[in-house]
Amino acid sequence: MRSLAVFAVPLALALGALAFTSTDRARAEEKAEKEKPPALVPVDVNMHDFMEGMFQAPYRRLKVALAAEPKDAAGWKAVRSDALILAEGSNLLLTRLPKADAELWSKHSVASRDSGVQLLKAAKAKDYPTARKAYEAMLGHCNACHKKFEDGKHILAP
Ligand code: HEC
Repeated sequence: MRSLAVFAVPLALALGALAFTSTDRARAEEKAEKEKPPALVPVDVNMHDFMEGMFQAPYRRLKVALAAEPKDAAGWKAVRSDALILAEGSNLLLTRLPKADAELWSKHSVASRDSGVQLLKAAKAKDYPTARKAYEAMLGHCNACHKKFEDGKHILAP
């Protein structure tokens, strides 16, 4: 009888602990699920409409705005806005991976975003030479993606 207790008590304790940790875990998982931020859901447009709708207008504005040093605060503000649109737009490209060569797609998207951030910073500092360099670097990344995924169509001049 005593020897049975020697096994039964620790066994009961162990089972109890196991049950406790597994309900605990289930509860924690449920909580984490509820607290998850809503997922990014890309708007249902094809790549052509995405580029045309999100990227073309800011690119065209920047091309004019950065042809020479912006004259005043309003000029720099416009550059900051378009740099931010293109940087965040490039982030969104990461939600639109192609089936083939997704790694390369991501690489160009990240590089384009990072140059956009450099442009934003330079515009904030009203530093034209640095802004111009970042802008040209960004277009290099836009074009690298177009070269690879678009058979070299839409090579954009800075
Ligand atoms: C990760 C890949 C990728 C990057 C980075 C990228 N693009 Fe594109 N872009 C595309 C693809 C793919 C198309 C072709 C879409 C189509 O017509 O099917 C395109 C097309 C375009 C077009 C033509 C749209 C039209 O009306 O036909 C413009 C303008 C454009 N991109 C601007 C940009 C600019 C500016 C950047 C950089 C800030 C950029 N893209 C970065 C993939 C990319």
